Amino acid sequence: MGDLGVEHTAVLVPQVLTALNVRASGAYLDATFGRGGHSEAILQQLTADGRLICLDRDSTAIACAQARFAGDARVHTFLAPFSALAACADAVESGLKLDGIVFDLGVSSPQLDDAGRGFSFMQDGPLDMRMSAGQGESAADVVNSASEAELVRVFRELGEERHARRIARAIVADRKSRPFERTLELAQLIARVARGRTERKHPATRVFQALRIHVNGELTELEKGLAAALERLAPQGRLAVISFHSLEDRMVKQFMRRHSSVDPVYAGLPDIPAHARPLLKLVGKSIEPEPDELASNPRARSARLRVAERLATGVAA
Ligand SMILES: C[S@@+](CC[C@H](N)C(=O)[O-])C[C@H]1O[C@@H](n2cnc3c(N)ncnc32)[C@H](O)[C@@H]1O
Repeated sequence: MGDLGVEHTAVLVPQVLTALNVRASGAYLDATFGRGGHSEAILQQLTADGRLICLDRDSTAIACAQARFAGDARVHTFLAPFSALAACADAVESGLKLDGIVFDLGVSSPQLDDAGRGFSFMQDGPLDMRMSAGQGESAADVVNSASEAELVRVFRELGEERHARRIARAIVADRKSRPFERTLELAQLIARVARGRTERKHPATRVFQALRIHVNGELTELEKGLAAALERLAPQGRLAVISFHSLEDRMVKQFMRRHSSVDPVYAGLPDIPAHARPLLKLVGKSIEPEPDELASNPRARSARLRVAERLATGVAA
């Protein structure tokens, strides 16, 4: 719990509040507590009968939530992944429907800045990258044991890395003599292999992103989290999702589009059966940070917020 004091600057806070259209006595869920920037802003709008459920799969984040909101009966905290969202809501009240749910995807600044978590290619640390510390395979496990073909797939599909094959081949050759243990060992190998690149980004950016998404099963988690959110939103309840890279944003966009249109099988028919009616309504266009937010928080630069509202019609799967 060494980094309880390290801060994270929450992004798009006023925009998220507007998106959620917070009702003072409503029930809200922050699926990505981090250091609680969005939770805090929601809580400020709730009266004593409002409720806020906070989830994070990182035990330091949840320790922070518990310390910060100890004694506040409106707040319920859970050390849990998105895939347990419905179970967490049930633990507060069986079948609880929510008036708003926010996801602020990715990693927090304290996770990124703590070299010991292994997320950063700029600082030396163990090649770990697990948000739920100690659970499942670490990035080093993947780098040292996945086949070359699997590494190519991960780097290509999750990092959109153009040099995936070259980098995977070099990893497999190097690990024969010594397994990769440290972030900088991997970052240096990538810099060597991708030499001559003219991008502004560090050459290891895409591979590190790919490994992080893979190690944490981020896309599967997002898929399950969005499905659970849809099922748990009350009519007029709002879903607000901030993503930081195109793979996530594409999933969110497609999810919201799919559920805000009539099942194509029934499109154009005069009488659409309840199960084929849209469950969501899109709320506005996607929102990006204003220049003043970008100037004060460079980490907000790729943030994109999408918002949808649960309709009263239809039955969630
Ligand atoms: C960008 S930070 C959120 C910051 C937060 N909104 C704030 O204002 O401090 C993302 C957080 O979500 C958590 N997280 C990411 N994926 C998760 C998942 N599948 N389940 C639960 N928590 C997750 C991370 O551990 C991290 O703390």
